Parts: sequence; structure tokens; C-alpha cells
Amino acid sequence: MTSQDHPPAPVPGIAPAEFLRALTTRTAVRAYTDTSITLETVNALLEGMQAAPSAGNTQAWSFIVIREPRNIRRLRAFAPGVIGHPALVVLACSDDSRGPEYPSEKQVRTLCVAMAVQNLLLTAHAHGLGACPVHSFAPEPLRLLFDLPPYLQPVLLVPIGIPAHQRSPSSRRASDEVISYETHGQREPVSHGAPRGATTT
Ligand SMILES: Cc1cc2nc3c(=O)[nH]c(=O)nc-3n(C[C@H](O)[C@H](O)[C@H](O)COP(=O)(O)O)c2cc1C
Repeated sequence: MTSQDHPPAPVPGIAPAEFLRALTTRTAVRAYTDTSITLETVNALLEGMQAAPSAGNTQAWSFIVIREPRNIRRLRAFAPGVIGHPALVVLACSDDSRGPEYPSEKQVRTLCVAMAVQNLLLTAHAHGLGACPVHSFAPEPLRLLFDLPPYLQPVLLVPIGIPAHQRSPSSRRASDEVISYETHGQREPVSHGAPRGATTT
């Protein structure tokens, strides 16, 4: 090891191996018990969600938290992707009224919402809850049901509840099929020569 080559310092209180275990054990959950979730827990989920990064920190997003059973029933009528009876559903929208210049592209705003949804899924998992990102829904009826203004675009639904059963994580493609080093198709990392930051003459 050289003076430029420090081992990384983990965030205090967060064991990297435990954190990785949280990431690799999350899986889509589509069946829930009929137990409700406290507002305190819901708030923790929303805090994790809002910590997501966004382009230029514009946070061009808006979230509707749907907890009333009557509203969840109505939503399910237009969202075939919401399976089972979740305790709550988050309707995650991009917000065209925020940062109209940047990010100018709809796609960038959509990516920001997807990042927030991933945070929500992981925070739910860390609390022992099950959740699933859902794109199978009819946006226009939901727009009417939940009074969305024209500048909000529904991106994903996230039903959340206490898992009805344990699920094993879904399979993933092999790393050597999807990861390259330096150039596409180079399947092995190339060994370093000089350490980063070293000057050459
Ligand atoms: C953008 C996106 C849209 C999805 N839409 C749906 C959906 O409409 N219905 C559904 O049951 N699952 C949906 N999923 C969940 C995926 O099917 C699931 O994440 C995938 O099979 C991988 O499984 P895992 O989440 O257990 O790792 C969606 C996932 C993503 C990322």
C-alpha cells in the first residue's frame, strides 16, 4: 500500500457487509398481510425516499401517499400491476413545474423519480416491509382520482405492506455477462500500474 492508496473508511455505524446484505436480499413483494403500518414507520420510509439524489438537486418530484383503504381500492381498479392488498401505495410523480430549464428533459426527471423509488424500496426492506415498483397502471384515471395538476406526471406506483410470506431474491444475470472493465467486453480488471495521483516524468 502506498501513501496514495488508503483503504476506504466506512460510514460510522454502517457495516458495509450488512448494507450489501440489505441490497442483495431485497426482492419484489406482491402479497401482504392485512396489518396496517404506523405513521411513524411511513415517515421513516418517506425520509429515506427523499434522501435520493436528483439532477442538479432539483428534486423535481412529488409523491402522493395513499393509505385510505377506499382510495387504495379505487387505485387498484386502474392499476393491474398492484397485486394483493397493500397497507399503503406511494404514487411517485415527476414535477414539470420544478427546474423547467434543467433538467429540461422529461427522461432526466423520470430518472430522478426512479432513484427516489429505489430508496423507498430499500428503506421499506430495511424495516421488514415488502414493496414492489409498478409501472402497469393507467395514468389518466389516477390523475383524476388523486387531483394531479397537469405538471405532475405519474411515473411509478409503490405498494407497500407487511410481506405475507418470505421470498427469496430474484436471480440476476452473471456479472461476467454485464460488467466490463475499461472497454466493453474486457471481462477482467486490468491491474494498476502507478497509484492514482502519482506523477510520471
Ligand atoms: C420500472 C419497473 C417497472 C415495474 N413494473 C412492474 C409492474 O407493473 N408489475 C409488477 O408486478 N412488477 C413490476 N416491476 C417489478 C419487477 O418485475 C421486478 O423488480 C423484477 O422482476 C426483479 O425482481 P426483484 O425486484 O425481486 O429483484 C417493475 C420494476 C421496475 C424496475
